[in-house]
Amino acid sequence: MLERRHTMELEYLAKTIDAVCVPVVVLDRELTIIAANPSAQKAFAGLTLGASAAKAISKKRGFLNRLGQVLEQPVEKTLILKTKEGFGQEFLTTIKPLDLGRAGLAARLLLTFEDRSPLKDVKTMRSEFVANVSHEIRSPLTAITGIIETLQSTAKDDPEARAHFLDLMGREAARMVNLVTDLLSLSQVEVKQRRRPRKSVDPNQIIAQAMNTARQLAQKRGMVLDFRGPYTLPALPGLHDDLVRVFINLLENAVNYGREGGEITLIACIKDSTNPLAQPALAISVTDQGEGIPAADIPHLTERFYRVDKSRSRNVGGTGLGLAIVKHILVRHRGKLVITSQLGQGSTFCVYLPLKPPQKT
Ligand SMILES: Nc1ncnc2c1ncn2[C@@H]1O[C@H](COP(=O)(O)OP(=O)(O)O)[C@@H](O)[C@H]1O
Ligand SMILES: [Mg+2]
Repeated sequence: MLERRHTMELEYLAKTIDAVCVPVVVLDRELTIIAANPSAQKAFAGLTLGASAAKAISKKRGFLNRLGQVLEQPVEKTLILKTKEGFGQEFLTTIKPLDLGRAGLAARLLLTFEDRSPLKDVKTMRSEFVANVSHEIRSPLTAITGIIETLQSTAKDDPEARAHFLDLMGREAARMVNLVTDLLSLSQVEVKQRRRPRKSVDPNQIIAQAMNTARQLAQKRGMVLDFRGPYTLPALPGLHDDLVRVFINLLENAVNYGREGGEITLIACIKDSTNPLAQPALAISVTDQGEGIPAADIPHLTERFYRVDKSRSRNVGGTGLGLAIVKHILVRHRGKLVITSQLGQGSTFCVYLPLKPPQKT
């Protein structure tokens, strides 16, 4: 009779914790699992009723000690539990003493697990970003400090050397200005990433403006900019200045990493729904004749500060943020960037932009 009542109580307990959406596990005095909800079974692969907490959840001494402590002295305790599964998830684990009186005799501890991993990822990303920015700022600063020392000592009375070093200093300062400008643009486009563009823009004007800016750079490297496509592209929803920035960044890269004296081609065309956006789109591609990009690097190019060849990027005044800015602007426009490249032949960066405003959901 009593046993039957226990079974019923246990079923009742199991049903209650099933309704909870975070992982919940109930242990008895022997630290055996007597109830666990589906979330817990998902979080800890192979968790079964009747298994020991050590086997099913964690063998870590800290965890098992805590369980023992709460059994002895019924006071709630928490700890961070790291698991290897799921690429090292991190759970804030709360151990609560349970006293269900005669009804739930066996149940002694109630464990809940709060997944802290996404939070940890944000923290890691933030500290990586700060480390990257600090590093990027420190190198020009170190260079400038060195130059100042030289100007104060060896180059003090040498006008020619002085001019040379001031020139170098100017370049390093320009690098810092570029970096700060790009960081500001990045944070601005990131903040506005979710706001969809309401106005309509003229892609013909956008292309013309970006090409005018890039043409001067291209001429310096003896490169030719070539536009192919109709001059009567239809208007589409977008932000003029942001889209000009997208094509300036892509054209600048084509100039910087393309072949000296080579050609850069910008092709615009209207696509039906058979494109990566799966809806009618404007496709604008920028193709250069540079060395190309190894396939393994392509998926990472839009990450902040990712560069295939660091010193080359720095030499041309790059910040490693150009494509990250492009990506964020395109997210806002519900567009896409597709990168293809053939080593030794060149690369193509194709931007797809939807022709119609996104449907409200
Ligand atoms: N057209 C291209 N050809 C070859 N490599 C490119 C091209 N565009 C970009 N890359 C690579 O992608 C990296 C990231 O580009 P970007 O975000 O614009 O930063 P930056 O140009 O400031 O280095 C560059 O450093 C370069 O290694
Ligand atoms: Mg760039």
